[in-house]
Amino acid sequence: MTELTDALRHRYTCKAYDASRRLPDPIVQQLLAALRYSPSSVNSQPWHFIVADNAEGKERIAKATAGSYAYNAAKVLNASHVIVLCARNELPDDYLQAVLDQEQADGRFADEAAREGQRKGRAGYVAQHESAGDVAEWTQKQTYIAQGFLLLAAGLLGVDATPMEGFDPAALDAEFGLKEKGFSPAVIVSLGYHADGDFNATLPKSRLPEAVLFSRA
Ligand SMILES: Cc1cc2nc3c(=O)[nH]c(=O)nc-3n(C[C@H](O)[C@H](O)[C@H](O)COP(=O)(O)O)c2cc1C
Repeated sequence: MTELTDALRHRYTCKAYDASRRLPDPIVQQLLAALRYSPSSVNSQPWHFIVADNAEGKERIAKATAGSYAYNAAKVLNASHVIVLCARNELPDDYLQAVLDQEQADGRFADEAAREGQRKGRAGYVAQHESAGDVAEWTQKQTYIAQGFLLLAAGLLGVDATPMEGFDPAALDAEFGLKEKGFSPAVIVSLGYHADGDFNATLPKSRLPEAVLFSRA
């Protein structure tokens, strides 16, 4: 079995964390790199990640797991690290300029024509989504790509993880002032090591058969 196949088979959604175990910093750095290096349409990188690595930070995030989301509270509070993956609500000109400037600084453009081509191409896609009124939906999709990268990286690094849509976005807005910053929370991912009593650690994986999922063109 390859390292990848092994990680795909063994990664699972952790339901209970060992609160006494902390992720080593070099592992955390690799997980954050998986987020940062995730691909996005026209390199828009329309996301922001809030990282909690201490009790106070995790308690702030856990405010979004009150009431009907209480089943996720311990997964936030007992994990080693918790990340809120946010999507940008809009992609205004000054933000697009900052992305272009970064690409320039990173040496992406051989000349002015290449830079202008990239600027125009990206602006065209953004304008298309602005006309369709679905910029926020588009940026959320990109943010879910980052989630996928994070979960796979965790699996490869032997880190347990929990992706969570079960939270109150309004509570996160209120706690972190997300709206004023132009962000909406997409998903929360807890990271750490599972507790001995995690029922989900020993359950077999269940997936639809290949014949249902794949067909040939
Ligand atoms: C976007 C997303 C949201 C999810 N939300 C939750 C959640 O709120 N709480 C939870 O315990 N699991 C959550 N899950 C875990 C799924 O139930 C799980 O991925 C699925 O059952 C497949 O199992 P596996 O991850 O163990 O392979 C979520 C998964 C994804 C991808």
